[in-house]
Amino acid sequence: MTSLLDSPVPAAADDPALRRGAARVLYANWTGASTVPSRGLYPHQWSWDSAFIAIGLRHLSVRRAQRELETLLGAQWADGRVPHIVFNPAVALDAYFPSPDFWRSSRDGAAAGAPEGIETSGIVQPPVHALAAWLVHLADPDASRSRGFLSRVYPALTAWHEYLTGARDLGGGGLAAVLHPWEPGMDNSPCWDAPLRRIEPAPADSYRRADLAHGAAAERPTDLDYGRYVRLAGDYRDSGYADAGTRHAFAVEDPGVNALLIVSEHALGRIAAETGADPAPHEERAARLTAALVERLWSPDDGMFLCRDLVDGELITERSVAGLLPLVVPGLPQEIVDALAGTAAGPGFRLGEIPMVPSYDLTGPAFDPSRYWRGPAWFNTGWLLERGLRGHGRTGAADRLRATMLTSAGACDFAEYVDPFTAEARGTRDFGWTAALTLDLLARDPAEEDAGSTPDAVAAALV
Ligand code: SER
Repeated sequence: MTSLLDSPVPAAADDPALRRGAARVLYANWTGASTVPSRGLYPHQWSWDSAFIAIGLRHLSVRRAQRELETLLGAQWADGRVPHIVFNPAVALDAYFPSPDFWRSSRDGAAAGAPEGIETSGIVQPPVHALAAWLVHLADPDASRSRGFLSRVYPALTAWHEYLTGARDLGGGGLAAVLHPWEPGMDNSPCWDAPLRRIEPAPADSYRRADLAHGAAAERPTDLDYGRYVRLAGDYRDSGYADAGTRHAFAVEDPGVNALLIVSEHALGRIAAETGADPAPHEERAARLTAALVERLWSPDDGMFLCRDLVDGELITERSVAGLLPLVVPGLPQEIVDALAGTAAGPGFRLGEIPMVPSYDLTGPAFDPSRYWRGPAWFNTGWLLERGLRGHGRTGAADRLRATMLTSAGACDFAEYVDPFTAEARGTRDFGWTAALTLDLLARDPAEEDAGSTPDAVAAALV
């Protein structure tokens, strides 16, 4: 296993056909102001999708990539939250569930500062946005400066992080908590099975799923999952989307969300420096978050990070790919980096042995190679692991992952996710971030990037 990790393999050669295919997806999914993850299954703007999409879109059009992020931030609430969906009013209500008339953001979210005149969901998704903004800036710094791009997005991104580290520090230990399985973006991860067992599902006849019109039921969350998603979202809405002063039936600290928050906080530091603001508060907050991540979520026995259930205060024993994502965090203790790389290459995730890194422990009791976040491999987590491994000088493992991601992305028609053993397509096709992150991997020359294992190398590999 170690030899696979350490033996360099050639990177996939540049592939003009693959590049054209990925670009075609992004052009087809562009709506004029943002990009839909998928024309059928997800016909609105999604928060973390847009961040990953902007990272790839910058290689096609810096202006569009800026617009992608600014459209999303234009729907930010006054309390700083960036909603996980921004609804397109031109799309029929029954095209997606839960639709704007379920969330009722402009009415029921008014006290929390939801905008008027635009409908959104009331929950959030992982904060990849500051990282994306910085990467979009780097694609053409002169154009970015002449349009004042970073100066415009910096206050919004700062307010977003203040919301997450303030109102969302529900555990009081310095990490951001999520209140719904849709918030960490890994809807039906087995990590949520135990916390969700406490939730009484909404009655099946009180809503109608739209997703099954676009995806195989065996590759989607179950009806029981949906009943609980609907209950939690409805209860949050009925509280006026209040974070404080409410008893949350589901509240979890997730290592993926917090790792992305830390990386984005480092990016905010760079954005601050570029725009003449003080980077120090951002670097200090990133350091505090990193210490809290290790203190609250590191499990030495598992060799990876776990989620913490804030309702009973315990770590959740299920092992998902979210627990490996802190590989992207600069400045982790070396023994943690080594353990994470070892776990990634071990029997649970088999990095370097099978084509793609699964979303959940291959040896875990709930593993399913086809069902959404219960085992299939996703390209955004693959991209993050590739970045993290390369940043820590694990060049062979990063090269191999990059090569298999590129091969798989083209062969699966830019699928939403794939079977980790065979890389066969699962979920919807022509999926936005699969195409975007393919473009980003193609645009990078790994040989130029390999900076070695310095503390700042992870940040260097990301930017
Ligand atoms: N991922 C969710 C869905 O499947 C929503 O964010 O609709």
